[in-house]
Amino acid sequence: MSDELNPVASRLSPVKPSASAWVSAAAKKLKAQGHDVIDMGLGEPDFDTPAHIVEAAYAAAKAGQTRYPPTDGTAELKNAIVAKFRRENQLDYTASEIIVSNGAKQVIFNALMASLEPGHEVLLCAPYFGQYQDMVLILGGVPVAVPCSADDKFLVSADALDAAITERTRWVILNAPSNPAGAMYSSQQLKAIGQVLERHPHVMLMSDEIYEHIVFDDQVFVSFVRACPNLRDRTLIVNGVSKAYAMTGWRIGYGAGNQALINAMVKVQSQISSGACSVAQAAAAAALNGPQDNVEEFRQAFERRRNLVVKLLETVDGLTLDPPVGAFYAFVACDYFIGSATPDGNVIRDDVDFTQFLLEDALVAAVPGSAYGLSPFFRLSTATDDDTLRLAIERIAASISKLKIK
Ligand SMILES: Cc1ncc(COP(=O)(O)O)c(C=O)c1O
Repeated sequence: MSDELNPVASRLSPVKPSASAWVSAAAKKLKAQGHDVIDMGLGEPDFDTPAHIVEAAYAAAKAGQTRYPPTDGTAELKNAIVAKFRRENQLDYTASEIIVSNGAKQVIFNALMASLEPGHEVLLCAPYFGQYQDMVLILGGVPVAVPCSADDKFLVSADALDAAITERTRWVILNAPSNPAGAMYSSQQLKAIGQVLERHPHVMLMSDEIYEHIVFDDQVFVSFVRACPNLRDRTLIVNGVSKAYAMTGWRIGYGAGNQALINAMVKVQSQISSGACSVAQAAAAAALNGPQDNVEEFRQAFERRRNLVVKLLETVDGLTLDPPVGAFYAFVACDYFIGSATPDGNVIRDDVDFTQFLLEDALVAAVPGSAYGLSPFFRLSTATDDDTLRLAIERIAASISKLKIK
């Protein structure tokens, strides 16, 4: 037996280093060596948090809101969230049905920690936000991917969902508009999914609505609970201020749902963090209660960039993009290049090889579709300025023109 200490618990062993972590580490390494890498991997708005929100945080700190906040969130923020649900989603939640956490990520983790038994299955609609899978694995659950193809606009159909549900299914996670595909369900499609869930009363639904304000082409976002009010008590809505208000660093997310589940999530949170930063909560309350002009301004900027990326990619042979209807990513199909050879004679076997080639040859960092459970694709974040987007796509086009198709 080796004397060497292994400090890591076996519960972490199913979690493999993610492809997106690999991409960002490799991009950083190349940058440190002096290469001019364009990082299209990051999933955050490139705008600053609006000034009135920053001022509210400053005022709260000066007014002495510097002690432990209530574990489940400050009354001010929870009331702002109650008002937000009424105003924007026509939903009625009481403050006690709401939890505030360190980002939407912690809301999701708290919920899974509070509800999963080992072996419970969690249905993920691929392509999905990679962290769902990792969190389920850490907690001893079984992530089950339901593939959603480009032909289906990357949306899960009611029939596919029905076929994937077993007696061990605990959760279905929906995310719309989605990361990475920017796909969004209509109210009709949500109702059809709701009808499936009504037939399976042991299944809960997590609706990750964090991109609700980043929606294009005059489409209207509908919350899952608004479409399926009968399932209100079996649904956890996950949302937060990171994306809509350019507040990723403030780490404020919230969940709304079943009282017993929320109570259990608060119990989990009381052991982990004692709640979210008091000053950041004051900032989030100002974001939700204050003027919403910046939200629309950011949305318009993301729509312009989406239009630009769609137009630029149309001119690149071999790459296909189904125009996203929301969020700030482009999930691009690269199947045409699988099996092709690089100028060095290496074969592009999959989307990981493809993004590695883009990084090394085009000096553009993109995340392979395998990180989101669907290949062969790659994800570009479009949360960057027009010139950078143009340059990145020019470089990608120049590099892939060197690939020899077999
Ligand atoms: C689909 C989705 N859900 C949740 C999150 C996490 O958001 P937060 O910053 O509030 O933790 C992200 C962030 O990338 C996301 O893309």
